[in-house]
Amino acid sequence: MRADIYTLFPSWFDWFREQRHVRNALALGHAVETVDYRDTTTLSGRSVDDTPFGGGAGMVLRVDVVEWALRARYGVDPVDLGSQRRVIALTPSGRLLDDALATELAAEDDLTLLCGRYEGFDERILEHFCTDQVSIGRYVLAGGELAAMVLLDTVLRKLPGALGDEESAVEESYSAALQGLPEYPHYTRPADHRGWSVPEVLLSGHHERIREWRLEQARLRGEAQNEPLP
Ligand code: 6GU
Repeated sequence: MRADIYTLFPSWFDWFREQRHVRNALALGHAVETVDYRDTTTLSGRSVDDTPFGGGAGMVLRVDVVEWALRARYGVDPVDLGSQRRVIALTPSGRLLDDALATELAAEDDLTLLCGRYEGFDERILEHFCTDQVSIGRYVLAGGELAAMVLLDTVLRKLPGALGDEESAVEESYSAALQGLPEYPHYTRPADHRGWSVPEVLLSGHHERIREWRLEQARLRGEAQNEPLP
């Protein structure tokens, strides 16, 4: 996978690239690259944003600035980019990121992530250049950068080999293997600490009973989260 992140803060992603599963993915030949909107803007003072028509607070990322940045990298009219690759705007009003969307994106060869700042994107960016709009939750961040890292974190760890040998992304919270449920509780040594004992079934060696117990626990957690059960 080659993921391009358009941002005003490329250095934020230096830290991200150093994380173990991201480093693993890069070592396997995947790429995470940043593109600075300011590198291709022709506006005075390397400006990228402007005040909203109609008034209101904050600044809006300009459609021409985003067009210049996309054209410079891909050499095509960004209107046609969507037929080649997913172009995803990170925006609080987008489709909520979940495990299913992460699995879908992990199957892509090329991703483009657009981070907005300030009040967000000129609507024409979303309408004409983007295939997707993704949100990571029902709250507002100051910009899309952290959301882009969250999205890439969950996508990259799904790539074969990105997790260590012992780890697997197959049977974990919200995965199909766990029927979309959150994960069951885990315990390790000591079997007793201050009288807090590990559930007997986990020490029993009965694999079928352990499997049933874990599924039941995952269901209880799913109910506690107030999600409709699958
Ligand atoms: Cl993707 N962007 C911003 N700015 N805020 C958010 C978000 C994205 N997802 C949740 N809040």
